[in-house]
Amino acid sequence: MPTRKQDWLFTDVDELDITDLPAIRALVAREGIDTIVNCAGYTNVEGAEDNPELAELLNAKAVENLAVAMKEVNGLLLHISTDYVFGGEVLNTPITETQKPAPQGVYAQSKLHGEEAIQRVSCRHIIIRTAWLYSEYGKNFVKTMLRLTAEKPSLKVVDDQRGTPTYAGDLAEVIVKMLSAKEGMYNYTNEGECTWYEFACAIAELSGHTTCEIRPCTSDEFPSKVHRPAYSVLDKSKIKGTLGISIPHWRESLQKCLVSLLTT
Ligand SMILES: NC(=O)c1ccc[n+]([C@@H]2O[C@H](COP(=O)([O-])OP(=O)(O)OC[C@H]3O[C@@H](n4cnc5c(N)ncnc54)[C@H](OP(=O)(O)O)[C@@H]3O)[C@@H](O)[C@H]2O)c1
Repeated sequence: MPTRKQDWLFTDVDELDITDLPAIRALVAREGIDTIVNCAGYTNVEGAEDNPELAELLNAKAVENLAVAMKEVNGLLLHISTDYVFGGEVLNTPITETQKPAPQGVYAQSKLHGEEAIQRVSCRHIIIRTAWLYSEYGKNFVKTMLRLTAEKPSLKVVDDQRGTPTYAGDLAEVIVKMLSAKEGMYNYTNEGECTWYEFACAIAELSGHTTCEIRPCTSDEFPSKVHRPAYSVLDKSKIKGTLGISIPHWRESLQKCLVSLLTT
């Protein structure tokens, strides 16, 4: 059974498979749903190279299904997309919402196809592009680094990709505020920027894991099927102006997440 919290219904894949349009329609009708927040997707960037059909099914076709279901009831679809839609361009200034996408790799292309499907169906929609997500839950970079810096005497982390770590708890608060905002495309990450190496150093420092030596390295030292963007900092002026908010710096939010991770 989907979990209910106040006016919200939370579903996982066993309760609603978003590749199944009739099932989405049935749930929308049964529960009188007028807004969908889609956080689901195929998010294994490497794995997408070997499973392009699955990535396309989840990141594009399923997103189209949600858009169709909302279009039919004049509902709102809020969808989460990614900075990776810009991965193919060499950039060095924060990327605005109007910049032309240049996806690299199957994952990025499938995410762009999802954005395009929503725009084609033209249901009422908000798309939020975000990046480098982490939280107390699931598998993510912060939890991996916490474990590795506690276990290992030394560690190499790539220092030639810049972006902005983003606390999913901050994004969740913004998603709720955005439900009454003007429709369209928005960027959201925490403030500031760093490399994965700098992010790892901050995790170790703030968690007191100081015995592990963290060394910077280049991306070629970790062979990958996917080219990852060297610079993917998103410009957040639009969402800040729309909501009248200031956004916490990534270090501040990292500290908040670490306190919660290390005290529970
Ligand atoms: N992680 C990042 O750094 C990052 C950066 C930028 C953008 N994003 C975007 O943010 C969103 C969330 O990312 P994440 O990292 O939180 O993803 P995640 O941890 O991989 O979660 C994806 C979710 O999708 C669900 N799902 C998979 N197939 C489904 C289906 N057929 N029907 C319904 N649900 C299905 C999974 O449900 P089960 O758990 O039940 O299998 C899982 O909970 C994605 O759209 C991603 O592209 C992520």
